[in-house]
Amino acid sequence: MSHSVRVRTIPGIFCLAVLAIRGFALDPTPPPRPTPSPLVLNVFSAALALPNGVQVTSGSAILDVRALRDDVLRIRIGVNGQLPEDASWAVLANSRQSSVSTTAESDDDAVGFRTRSLRVKIARRDLHLSVTDLDGNILQEDAAGWPVTFHDRTFRLYKQMPADEHYFGLGDKVGPLDRRGQSFVLWNTDAYEFQESTDPIYKSIPFFLAERAGRYVGVLLDNTWCSSFDFGKESGEIYSFGASGGPVDYYIVYGPDPKKVVKTYSWLTGAAPLPPLWSLGFQQSRYSYETEDQLRGIASKLRELKIPADVLYMDIDYQQQNRPFTVDSQKFPNFTGMVKDLRQEHFRLVTITDLHIAYGPNIDYGPYQSGVAGDHFLKNPDGSLYVGTVWPGPSVFPDFTQKSSRGWWGRLYSKFVSEGVSGFWNDMNEPSVFLSPSKTMPIETQHRIDEPGFAERTASHLEIHNVYGMENSRATYEGLLNLAPNSRPFVLTRATYAGGQRYAATWTGDNSSTWNHLRLSTPMLLNLGLSGFGMAGADVGGFAGTPQPDLLTKWIELATFQPIDRDHTAKGTGAQEPWVHGPEHLAIRRRFIEERYRLLPYLYTAAEEMSRTGLPIVRPLFLEFPSATPDHHPLDLDAPNQFMFGASLLVAPSRFPDELDSYDVILPPGDWYNYWTGSRVIGAEKIEPRLDMLPVYARAGSIIPMQPLTQSTEEKPQGPLTLRVYPGPDCAGTLYQDDGTTLDYQRGEYLRLNFSCQSDPQGLRIHLGAPEGNYRAWWKSYEVQIFGWSSGKPKVLLNGKADSALSSSLNVGQVLTLSLPASGETELQIISTP
Ligand code: GLC
Repeated sequence: MSHSVRVRTIPGIFCLAVLAIRGFALDPTPPPRPTPSPLVLNVFSAALALPNGVQVTSGSAILDVRALRDDVLRIRIGVNGQLPEDASWAVLANSRQSSVSTTAESDDDAVGFRTRSLRVKIARRDLHLSVTDLDGNILQEDAAGWPVTFHDRTFRLYKQMPADEHYFGLGDKVGPLDRRGQSFVLWNTDAYEFQESTDPIYKSIPFFLAERAGRYVGVLLDNTWCSSFDFGKESGEIYSFGASGGPVDYYIVYGPDPKKVVKTYSWLTGAAPLPPLWSLGFQQSRYSYETEDQLRGIASKLRELKIPADVLYMDIDYQQQNRPFTVDSQKFPNFTGMVKDLRQEHFRLVTITDLHIAYGPNIDYGPYQSGVAGDHFLKNPDGSLYVGTVWPGPSVFPDFTQKSSRGWWGRLYSKFVSEGVSGFWNDMNEPSVFLSPSKTMPIETQHRIDEPGFAERTASHLEIHNVYGMENSRATYEGLLNLAPNSRPFVLTRATYAGGQRYAATWTGDNSSTWNHLRLSTPMLLNLGLSGFGMAGADVGGFAGTPQPDLLTKWIELATFQPIDRDHTAKGTGAQEPWVHGPEHLAIRRRFIEERYRLLPYLYTAAEEMSRTGLPIVRPLFLEFPSATPDHHPLDLDAPNQFMFGASLLVAPSRFPDELDSYDVILPPGDWYNYWTGSRVIGAEKIEPRLDMLPVYARAGSIIPMQPLTQSTEEKPQGPLTLRVYPGPDCAGTLYQDDGTTLDYQRGEYLRLNFSCQSDPQGLRIHLGAPEGNYRAWWKSYEVQIFGWSSGKPKVLLNGKADSALSSSLNVGQVLTLSLPASGETELQIISTP
């Protein structure tokens, strides 16, 4: 039903354009349907108050708004007298089905309700929907005069865009951290050599945060079809989103604190699992280490040059004719022995296992035969197998939205798992298909859906495309858990959808060896982290091309402070291992990789926090300091490319890393310490860039656990656990440890220690909390390093008493150092003496 209304862009035009450019018209698509006139939702027919929300009808259309919690709304629209099915690949059933009671509110102008923190109003005049907090601050509202519009099966929603609102998220879409002024299409695409303006790329994560005046809300459009988001590119006053089909089903998550939004998003879609500790170590890869000798050589060289490392990757050339789940025994004559030997050297192997299965009616290739026997491959509408060309040549594609096919896929890993391969890499799963103008499979390819919540049915590739890579990584993750129920799976996926963080870590795909790509890796990883993917990396050194020595050095420096630190490059490029540019570069690179290993207790603690709360490891400044500016705008807008590594360390690379010009680091309010020198810094600092330096600052009021250097995460550190104490307000820190690889931590085999410190006129008190959990960690003693001590030689007390061992361990320098045995809850007093 509609009054006459201005119609802007044809809803879905962004997707249509991308699909057309991609040559979909060249694929045999069904004849176009006659296009009916647009359906706009702006006439009120009736309203029904629900215990947890409101339902409004507009002719045969239904607008349904419900509160899942006081701070989470779900909004669905159905056009044919029926709401979209209550199903999702992204949102957990328990969250989707949660409900709180609401208070109905209705007057002459509007119908709606309130929760304990939100008020929803739908105007009787034109169905204008607004969501405010209880003080009346608008959090999101429809753009005046721009009702929800359907055009055939595409739809678009238009929202008011205040001049001072900013947008973040949407995964690793390229471009600045703030999405304002940009538009994006979500259609998973193999984007080799993508550039700053390339869109779409590999993933579709239709979740964003909107910030205005320090109030953050999150929006998830749970729709797997080709969707698009325009944050004011078309109009300075309206932002809009929509999809080329599928349900209008979106969620609004209220903060106002941004951390709360991110945590609630993880309540909706799940958190990334606790990664194996080794996946936080340095990872060396290339396309490809072609032979067993070459791979063993890389391992030896890393150890010989004492470059700490944990993981080696095997890219496609280890396989027979690129066929997944095979090993070329000419190139890798003793694969099993090699895996074993490398494990002895404390290396883990991650092998690539792409999803395409070689089409092999006449070849002896188990995955094809068993897949056909079990009816696990995608079909054309006429029932024949869909065959597309990828690395193995003609290939077939598993039907990952079918439970039985995911089970079959998972079992394909049994040999690799029994041989001791530690992790798996699911690439090309947009899916990428060669020799096809669309770069993927035809949109009418048939997928079968067998998933709780969804009706059992076939679906076209248009509906499944964006979720296909996620279901591929899900099949791998679940399969690995079945094969080794007490081991943490490590899966790396290139394509994914919202919620895919439950199954796999990710990387930003085929970047390039350019300074611009080094710079881009920061906003890409920050926005990925805000979108659920805290475990993410960008190919260190760049994939396409060969990095200049300085570029590789700077890249290794920055990646020290990124969640996944993997050096990877393409076929035919120059060598890219840390040693390739001579001893001076190697020394700098090694120093940074070593620092990452020293910081592992801190990094692992951040990873554990991520797995519990959804908070990412690398964070935009606004996540930690939402009130850092007088008008509460995100500080990141003034300090581009600075970011937090965990809650306590601020990393400040130059925005233009190839330039030698000095630049200003802008520090959030409060005191800071230079992480490298320990000196105190306040407000801002001018940096004269140097090849061997990356500015990092520790927040005053933090306690950072660190360990002695090891060459891998498997080597037991020798010596004390270091606690770097940076006194300041609310001074605290945490350490989390466990065995690093199993799920025993879920049964109490972990250790958590909370630390705190307090400055007072007498000096400083440090409290080392009682251990929580049963896990016994490697250290026997602590070395406590106190920064910013300026009162000469203090008196020290252990649990209120003088302790001669403690006193004699005291070292007074720029940093005050103390050693003490690790024995339960401990109170240290550092008392200034005149
Ligand atoms: C894709 C991947 C890349 C990999 C290559 C060969 O381009 O993105 O990382 O090395 O395929 O498998």
